[in-house]
Amino acid sequence: MLLDWKLALLPYEQAVDELVIKFKGIMREYHTANLISPIEDVTGRVKTVASIIEKSNRRNIPLDKAIDVLEDIAGIRIICRFVDDIEEVVNLIRKRNGADMEILEEEDYIKNTKTSGYRSYHITINYPMFIQGEYKKIKCELQIRTLAMNFWATIEHSLRYKFDKNVPSEIKNRLKVCAEAAYKLDEEMDKIKDELMESQQFMENREQIIDRIIHNIHNIYNNINIENKKDYNYQFINLYQEGNIDKLREFNTELETLLQEMGE
Ligand code: GTP
Ligand code: MG
Repeated sequence: MLLDWKLALLPYEQAVDELVIKFKGIMREYHTANLISPIEDVTGRVKTVASIIEKSNRRNIPLDKAIDVLEDIAGIRIICRFVDDIEEVVNLIRKRNGADMEILEEEDYIKNTKTSGYRSYHITINYPMFIQGEYKKIKCELQIRTLAMNFWATIEHSLRYKFDKNVPSEIKNRLKVCAEAAYKLDEEMDKIKDELMESQQFMENREQIIDRIIHNIHNIYNNINIENKKDYNYQFINLYQEGNIDKLREFNTELETLLQEMGE
């Protein structure tokens, strides 16, 4: 049977587009709240026809069943900065289970690193769609990994294809050493982050504090209950020019206390 691939893959393209938008929406929610997003980047792709045929042959799946059976025709990659962020993202996805997606399977290749050295957290979901007026569930593979895991997997994947999947064992071993280095990098970055998190500097940088000050001054001026509206703007400009971050932070605390007292 000759499949009309373009037509058959259309819903998968739609699903990928929608899911990328949804995960970018999560990033935006964090940024708007001035919080650091556990998601650094999101990308999506639909498997190429050549790759679908290759995988179906490898798994003895008849081509006309391939699109329904393969779980990674639609693929979303969620990139995090830190290993800890992966758990946060996984929990966000679990919260949506039964709402706008249905979790079919979770595979933890971080705890269970593959022999190749591959690390990543996979979640296979069913994603509901309406195609030409009909309700249909689309399988989709979510790969959640850190920047370091992604760096390794991207290079390893391209080498695998360069060698037509017969990577010489010497190269394989060196790639394993690289995977170990990527693991150490993740571990060390997590430690550095945890240490920095204890000091406020990491939570709020200069730009974020200034954003907050402007937001708070705006609220003070809009609050009719605050009688003594000092010239906060003037005070802010002076502190801004002075450039001392601790003084800016102190000033912001003063504004927030005032707003809290006024029940804002
Ligand atoms: P394949 O997709 O053919 O590997 O079969 P599968 O679905 O049974 O495998 P698995 O769940 O282990 O992996 C699914 C996806 O994870 C793959 O399509 C790759 O994108 C990625 N992956 C798994 N193992 C490796 C690896 O060793 N190296 C790289 N670069 N990616 C991997
Ligand atoms: Mg799989």
